[in-house]
Amino acid sequence: MAKKTIADVADLMGKKVLVRVDFNVPLDDAGNITNDRRIRAALPTLRHILDKGGSAIVMSHLGRPKGDPKKDAPFRMDRAAQRLGELLGKPVQKIDEVVGPHADGAAATLQQGHVLVLENLRFHPGEQKGDAAFAAQLGKLADIYVNDAFGTCHRQDASMLAVPESMKGKPRVVGFLVAKELDILDNLLGSPQKPFIGILGGAKVSDKIGFITSLLSRVDRLLIGGAMTYTFMKAQGQAIGSSRCEHDKLDVARELLSRAEGKIVLPLDHLVADKPEAGAQTQVVAGNIPDGWFGMDVGPKTIDLYREEIKKAGTAVWNGPMGKFEDEPFSKGTRAIAAALAEAKGVTIVGGGETAEAVEEFGLDSRMRHVSTGGGAFLEYLEGKSFAALAQIDDKL
Ligand code: 3PG
Repeated sequence: MAKKTIADVADLMGKKVLVRVDFNVPLDDAGNITNDRRIRAALPTLRHILDKGGSAIVMSHLGRPKGDPKKDAPFRMDRAAQRLGELLGKPVQKIDEVVGPHADGAAATLQQGHVLVLENLRFHPGEQKGDAAFAAQLGKLADIYVNDAFGTCHRQDASMLAVPESMKGKPRVVGFLVAKELDILDNLLGSPQKPFIGILGGAKVSDKIGFITSLLSRVDRLLIGGAMTYTFMKAQGQAIGSSRCEHDKLDVARELLSRAEGKIVLPLDHLVADKPEAGAQTQVVAGNIPDGWFGMDVGPKTIDLYREEIKKAGTAVWNGPMGKFEDEPFSKGTRAIAAALAEAKGVTIVGGGETAEAVEEFGLDSRMRHVSTGGGAFLEYLEGKSFAALAQIDDKL
């Protein structure tokens, strides 16, 4: 059932709108935001609310704070709020409280067309416990609830579930970002253009068993890259030298390979290094990896093969880098996949934090049909899991 969106709320004039966004953005060691994609992705919803005469109370988590004020300081919402203000082109008020008298006061006096950002939701123990009393404190701040946090939709934190539950009787809708993500991913699950190929990289098979299983039931071919390659190779009895491998997951890898009925395509060749770091001596090897060498990226023959597959694809979905792309000498595979997708005629969808950031870093994001803001949420949605958070949102009639 389709969900109501913020566009379905007829009257926003003078209304206070509580907007759950996912501003869980990457930070450097000094706490600076290194990629503001998720903040930019929330702008259409926030602009709509403000343009229609509403005001927005913005709430998000950031990072995984541990309850130690000193160590948690980088996870304060100040920089995200500042960045939001820059992007909106208007000052944004940020308070140091999640719930309590300051939040109540700031929400009560919030003027039409203005934005208030609450402190990191995870600074309050009630958030991850899904606490109803905490949720009710948030719920009473506003007239309308909006879930525009696609990246968090797989979580059952209070702001995702208990808050909308506490606001029964008031409009509870999704924002434009969530609506767009659901629309595109539902199409991908429902009626993908064929041939449908998956491109899957990253370090571990074990992180993505459900995702791989689900993809195998949908795709015509699943092209593998990244360190998970070596677990699959080892499971097939090939030599992997000193490459990273999940030795305790070889049975799982074997099971996936047998279930795949030939759909899983492993790299033909590998860029290997004598040390797993930039500056190491490298060579390209086909098939078995010699003793003492580390697989670091896919090789040129694999790049050619995957490029051809992408060219022919009606739909291509990509998650996970092909190699240790953050080190330039091992970034060719990931760059080549991003470039091939950018050139492709078919529907191209990229998801997962690292992959989306890589595509953006290469300046190719605008040439994809869709770059999801979801990491875990993207994987779980494509696994076919339903999100409890969305069950709280009003259905379109
Ligand atoms: C994400 O980045 O996947 C979401 O913001 C959820 O964050 P979490 O994994 O810390 O719950």
